[in-house]
Amino acid sequence: MTTTSIPRGKYHIWTVGCQMNLADSQRIQTMLDELGWEEASMEQANLVVLNTCSVRQAPEEKAHNLLAQLRRAKDQRDDLLVALMGCMIGNQKTIDTLGKRYPHIDLFMKVEQADILPQFLEERWTPISGAGCLDIDFLPESSAHEVEFETAFDAMVATPTPLIQPTFATSTNRIGKRTVLPMAITPKPGDRIAHYPTKIEPAQASPSAWLPIVLGCNKVCTYCIVPYRRGRERSRPMDELMIEARSLVAKGAKELTLLGQTVEAYGLDLPDTPDLADLMTNLSEINGLSRIRFMTSYPRHMTDSMIERMAHLPKVCEHLNIPVQSGDNDMLKRMKRGYSLEEYVERIERVRELWPDITLSTDIIVGFCGETEAEFQHTLDLLEKIRFDVVHVAAYSVRPGTVAARWEDDVPLAEKKRRLHAVEEVQARIALELNQSYVGKVEEVMVEDINVSRGHRQLKGRNRANKLVFCPEPDTSVSQKVFQPGDFVQVRIERATAWSLQSDTVAVEMAL
Ligand code: SAH
Ligand code: F3S
Repeated sequence: MTTTSIPRGKYHIWTVGCQMNLADSQRIQTMLDELGWEEASMEQANLVVLNTCSVRQAPEEKAHNLLAQLRRAKDQRDDLLVALMGCMIGNQKTIDTLGKRYPHIDLFMKVEQADILPQFLEERWTPISGAGCLDIDFLPESSAHEVEFETAFDAMVATPTPLIQPTFATSTNRIGKRTVLPMAITPKPGDRIAHYPTKIEPAQASPSAWLPIVLGCNKVCTYCIVPYRRGRERSRPMDELMIEARSLVAKGAKELTLLGQTVEAYGLDLPDTPDLADLMTNLSEINGLSRIRFMTSYPRHMTDSMIERMAHLPKVCEHLNIPVQSGDNDMLKRMKRGYSLEEYVERIERVRELWPDITLSTDIIVGFCGETEAEFQHTLDLLEKIRFDVVHVAAYSVRPGTVAARWEDDVPLAEKKRRLHAVEEVQARIALELNQSYVGKVEEVMVEDINVSRGHRQLKGRNRANKLVFCPEPDTSVSQKVFQPGDFVQVRIERATAWSLQSDTVAVEMAL
């Protein structure tokens, strides 16, 4: 059987969470498109892929609600497959628990295993034709009726391929078998390199595309579920990344964002230990690629040499997303962040010295176990001291399975909300002050989107420092051009808010 024999169906991919998930969903979408599957609403789809996030409770609950809805849908439909990917997958134990709770999940899949999809669909997708008969054209002749189909399937899985290891549900539903991919993700010692199935790059890249370069995380921050669900840190080999980056650029990407939980850990596990700056040096050679971004930074992995080399690469944009999580030393210890406040501040000062005009964003958690008013105040003090451009703030949310889940979640919700708003308020003032310093300057902006409102077209994009910029599209009769995502323009900034910069006119259109 070849993949071309897979009858077409309709798919729906539901995605929540971080850029890594968005990037992974794009890949899955490309694969399904290439298999001839058609995108549809969740209600109409034959394959629903839930790409989940477990970082906080709310997104996980959304996935549980959807799984409950899909269970009801599956009770009534014979032509629906449900696949789960993303953070909720975790290890075999999590899979077993989820499998018991939701016997209707057909496939648990990690993105590195996504090239299983054609095989999975080939084996499990049984479209109904006519009056409820199975269309089994693609099966061997000997299995041309249902009972034999089951037997043929049993035989097929009795000797599982290295990638597929289906388990059988007791249900007699024709598609009631579950495919659980083995934990190929848990690499053997000495075999920690992450390979993505390269054929699943997005078919069309948006001008700003993502490139996951390190998967998993080796830290054990006490509040965080990511390492349990995404496994240990695994870097993708440089040559694989170069091939993928070139192909993304050939498909229209102008800006690549390199993704990793602690992105400066890139290469530590690769044979010749290249570092992030080496990767960026190589990526800089790609014609047609104009900007390189990266996230998320971790202070202890960021060496002076790395910062200096990145700062000297013209394509690497001057913006750092470097989560601090708290401004208090005791709290950082409880969080097991692996650095002291002094070390963090020292790193930021060094970055600002070595990389002029760099802008900074950070993540903060408020209301973590035992957070006193004084500890919280230290976080506000840190915001005043560093003056980040952007702060992402979250109220602590207990994640079962983490170290902190054993501790008392003792900051009341109302207090968490108060602290969250206090951070937002301080940050809004600082961001406004910082953004106002751009007024009067001319900024290079890559257009990411065109908003149309009441007949007016507005360009939306980012400057190199990652500030959101809005500008009306120049009159097409004058500029002779309809702007598109991926165009570069220079604009003079006229106004600023805490969240964006605004311009009234495009100063120069750039040929980049
Ligand atoms: N790799 C990143 C974090 C990834 S998780 C780092 O080095 O910090 C993304 C963000 O979610 C974190 O920065 C944190 O602010 C938030 N987060 C993680 N676990 C959380 C939890 N249990 N409750 C609330 N926010 C959490
Ligand atoms: Fe989570 Fe800490 Fe890693 S926040 S993703 S364990 S660096």
